[in-house]
Amino acid sequence: MTATVLTPASRAKPAAAGALEAAAKLWFAAAVIGQGLFVFYILAAYGPTTLSGDFAAWNQNKQLLKGYVPGDTAGNLAFAAHVLMAAVVTFGGTLQLVPQIRARAPAVHRWIGRAFLSTAILASLVGLYMVWVRPTGDSGANAIAISLDAVLILTFAGLAWRTAMARDFVRHRRWAMRTFMVANGVWFLRLGIVAYGFISKPFGDAAPSMGTFFDIWNFGCYLVPLAILELYFLAKARGGPRGRLAMAGGLVTATGLMSLGIAGTWFGMFAPVLAKL
Ligand code: HEM
Repeated sequence: MTATVLTPASRAKPAAAGALEAAAKLWFAAAVIGQGLFVFYILAAYGPTTLSGDFAAWNQNKQLLKGYVPGDTAGNLAFAAHVLMAAVVTFGGTLQLVPQIRARAPAVHRWIGRAFLSTAILASLVGLYMVWVRPTGDSGANAIAISLDAVLILTFAGLAWRTAMARDFVRHRRWAMRTFMVANGVWFLRLGIVAYGFISKPFGDAAPSMGTFFDIWNFGCYLVPLAILELYFLAKARGGPRGRLAMAGGLVTATGLMSLGIAGTWFGMFAPVLAKL
């Protein structure tokens, strides 16, 4: 008969740490569903049209600022490359966060990681080209906001790559998660707009207009998720029980808002576009 050895890991986790872990898992489950719907939308909206060369069909999507422009071959090819890479970034980023893949198939994790980081870098460079060389007519502040996001994606992806090459996996994981947050800025942008539409409605004219929110959220869509991630790192590493519980509550609230955005973007943005194609 073997004696049961009580190691620190086998002891019951303190309630606050358990709550934080559960809240992070809940957030992740919502993110997987939302990202799955976003990938489905990107592939269904742009896959067949782009791969068959029917670029004009993109403009069935009336939410696009520019999309297909007759005669602008370089710009149209840039858009085509951007949306196809966007699907890899979104799908690859989510897969990278699945702990089972990291633990059981490290080679798969490495290859998805290379694909995620390189497409995030290339999609950002192409995005910068579209914003500054093929202007969409977006306001100056919005162009600066998305460009700052591109700079953060390029910087964080570079650092995630460098720390992986140096086999410094603790720092690599942090930089990879930061890259995930900023690379999903465009996704959070859409979720935030829809969620704000729901939340601000009961307040009528007392709430800031959608235009004002949009201008602020153009920066917030990557800075707020990044700040939440940093707080999560802090709470996990050094937070006391109260700090961890507060963080768990914050994450559950963020997950609720995100879920509202996920449902709203699907029914209000993505499904109507797909219905027209
Ligand atoms: C790396 C993560 C990114 C993803 C997943 C992504 C995704 C997308 C998607 C799906 C579209 C098509 C629009 C739609 O159907 O709603 C799009 C368009 C566009 N993206 Fe990105 N994007 C990313 C990064 C960026 C960055 C960093 C920039 C700018 C620096 C950028 C600039 C643009 C522009 C200018 C368009 C065309 C807008 C139009 O013509 O309406 N993107 N992106």
